[in-house]
Amino acid sequence: MTTSIFTPLTLPNGTTLPNRLAKAAMEENMAASGHLPGSDIFKLYETWSKGGMGLIITGNVMVDHRAMTGPGGIALEENTELEPFKQWASTAQKNGAHIWMQINHPGRQVYAAMGGQVLSPSNIALDLGEHSKLFGQPTAMTESDIQELIQRFVITATRAIEAGFNGIQIHAAHGYLVSQFLSPLTNKRNDQWGGNFENRARLLYVIIKAVKASLPSTAALSVKLNSADFQRGGFDSDDALKVAKALGSLGVDLVELSGGSYESPAMQGRTADGRTLAREAYFLEFAKSIASQTSIPIMTTGGITRHAIAQQVIDEGVDMIGMARALAFCPALPNEWKQSKDAKPDLPTVNWKNKVMAALATMAITKRQLQRMGKGKRPKAKVSPLFSLIADRIRLNKLTKIYRARYSD
Ligand SMILES: Cc1cc2nc3c(=O)[nH]c(=O)nc-3n(C[C@H](O)[C@H](O)[C@H](O)COP(=O)(O)O)c2cc1C
Repeated sequence: MTTSIFTPLTLPNGTTLPNRLAKAAMEENMAASGHLPGSDIFKLYETWSKGGMGLIITGNVMVDHRAMTGPGGIALEENTELEPFKQWASTAQKNGAHIWMQINHPGRQVYAAMGGQVLSPSNIALDLGEHSKLFGQPTAMTESDIQELIQRFVITATRAIEAGFNGIQIHAAHGYLVSQFLSPLTNKRNDQWGGNFENRARLLYVIIKAVKASLPSTAALSVKLNSADFQRGGFDSDDALKVAKALGSLGVDLVELSGGSYESPAMQGRTADGRTLAREAYFLEFAKSIASQTSIPIMTTGGITRHAIAQQVIDEGVDMIGMARALAFCPALPNEWKQSKDAKPDLPTVNWKNKVMAALATMAITKRQLQRMGKGKRPKAKVSPLFSLIADRIRLNKLTKIYRARYSD
């Protein structure tokens, strides 16, 4: 029998996802007060729950409110009230989809304006040319910082499962803290957490073992990994293959392959090292190669908007299809594909010369769609990138002021 995008997938932990289509993580930056999920988040996930995907992965949830990817983000810590998280999980599950919480620590990718903690394996700041000052100067983590971080991943993961989430995804991609440890460009340590490949990968493996040991066996455990950083001298596809193989033997249920970081936004189809990605399904070649050399289920995310491409992913031996922007503009795309294979979201493209600004504008337009759905409105693709970028900056400034005022003790 041929496998279609609507064929269920049984994971190594024995649970079965209803189909092969996943909503990939999109940071919402729409938290209610106290970094909790609130009515806007519930409305947004209710919309997605009706969309027909088998798996919904949340936007990244912080393991530490002192280090956030954005001022309106959600954090789940030891003493966080759990009730709103229960509502979040049950809302997303209403129509049979599984929901996994993506958990993350930004490391050095913290906006300078926000303050808080900017930690990294080494004290190397982001290089975004004239925009570098947007992000804070990191300090190198001490051994006790690293031990605390591992515990925080365990606490957030166990509390998410207690709240009713079906699984956890550790964010080890896109230049955030775990991927900073993986990359030789950002990890210049010479202790057990840096140097050779095994040492750079140690933090991820230790987190996985600790999280796995504390979760019930029915909870799914996933990792989002870069297939490469797309920077010269960075984490590359050979490293990604080695990590994927190790994750398989550690009992991870699914590896989602993406790529890039703020410095090289390959996840948006643009790279800093000049390598050209496919126009659609950017990481399919990497995913295919890794899937053929490992037994762990593989998902590829990036540049997928059409039914034919989604089916091609499956036909080429990759198990799951991750989509982010397509589901921001067309939240019920999987159900629409059941009616017509030609259904396709209208994704705006921002072709500005300044690549950093173009990437920020693309994010801003997409985030507006999430905010609209949070208010019960439909997405609206035809919006000005400049207007969206300015509106996003104003919104972020407001949220940043609130964040700083709250934590300026
Ligand atoms: C607004 C926005 C927020 C995002 N937030 C996250 C995130 O929290 N975690 C993550 O792993 N990826 C995040 N991503 C990246 C997506 O998961 C995905 O890897 C990327 O957008 C490429 O997939 P696509 O072409 O289907 O959009 C975000 C993307 C967008 C557009």
